[in-house]
Amino acid sequence: MKEYKDYQLQGNNTFGIPARCDRFIEYAGEEDLKEMYKQKVFAGQWMSLGCGANLLFCGDYHGTIIHSVAQSIEKREETAQNILVKADAGIILDNFIEYSVSNGWGGMENLSAIPCSVGAAPVQNVGAYGAEAKDVVERVHVFDTKEGTFRSFSKEECTFGYRDSFFKANPQYVVVSVEFRLTKAPSWELRLDYGNLRSALPSDFSPEDALALRMIREAVRQIRHDKLPDPAEIGSAGSFFKNPVVDRTVVDKILHDYPKMPFYEMPNGCKIPAGWLIEQTGWKGKKSGNVGVYEKQALVLVNLGQATGKEVWELAQHITLSVKEKFGVEIYPEVIKIPQ
Ligand code: EPU
Repeated sequence: MKEYKDYQLQGNNTFGIPARCDRFIEYAGEEDLKEMYKQKVFAGQWMSLGCGANLLFCGDYHGTIIHSVAQSIEKREETAQNILVKADAGIILDNFIEYSVSNGWGGMENLSAIPCSVGAAPVQNVGAYGAEAKDVVERVHVFDTKEGTFRSFSKEECTFGYRDSFFKANPQYVVVSVEFRLTKAPSWELRLDYGNLRSALPSDFSPEDALALRMIREAVRQIRHDKLPDPAEIGSAGSFFKNPVVDRTVVDKILHDYPKMPFYEMPNGCKIPAGWLIEQTGWKGKKSGNVGVYEKQALVLVNLGQATGKEVWELAQHITLSVKEKFGVEIYPEVIKIPQ
């Protein structure tokens, strides 16, 4: 366990926003969590941070930030069709996906290159290109910071939703490790139907190919590279907003003036791409001081170099207002503002 006082967080959030926290603790596993509980870390102000890819620091954090650096991977069960693998929260999700794809274990290849830790993946139920963490998560092992005990949640108990899970509303549980059920060839269930994924695959692509997972992973990486900023070069948090789900009546009203608006039927209404709504308001590619809207994906707000969290938040509010005024649709951030 390593502890830092008055810690600079600029390298711990993909927006690259400078902010400090009173205390930053890197911990390696269960013993450290018990020790922190004993030291009453969880009795004060605290939060858990993975890769910092889904938050915006709008000021300093007066409390303790805990960050898992636990890195173990353990095979739990294996059959001819699938494998259950337990991965520690501190592993970079994309490193785990690379490991899985190298072993020929399918299920996470569409999630390639999402900046995220294994621990954050179920909390946020990360998703991309037709796949979500919930498709492969079997169990989530957590530490209950109120009780000082360990427990695990089945997939059903995680109550996954769109960029949502039980853990989002219950931050008392810190994810320790995640069990993923991955498939082996020929039981792979490849998802190739999202957007232009199929056309980004090599022309001789075959689902039977031993390298099919690798090809999908590379295609997803390429699409992301073409559309989304690389956090190592341009600060952002991926999609800043969630795609709103609205009543069909709202969709029909907009379709009257914009017959080409894309939308997707959902069990609870219709999902409209927030990127489309924002683009129609004219914000795409716009810059305002140190912040801007990415020119290739209107859902992504970017730090142009010296941005503060407040500037990003203000831009987000302007955009939200423009969308509300033009379409009567409320869009909500996917990114979490800290302090709230
Ligand atoms: N669109 C526009 N203009 C834009 C962006 C999008 O018109 O500037 C429209 C297009 O019609 C496009 C549609 O929106 O076909 C969907 O766009 P895209 O495939 O880029 O997906 P998205 O809905 O904007 C979501 C996720 C992304 C994920 C992609 C691919 C959310 C909030 N975002 O974006 O996730 O990579 O799908 O699956 O659901 C993230 O969460 O940080 C993230 C990057």
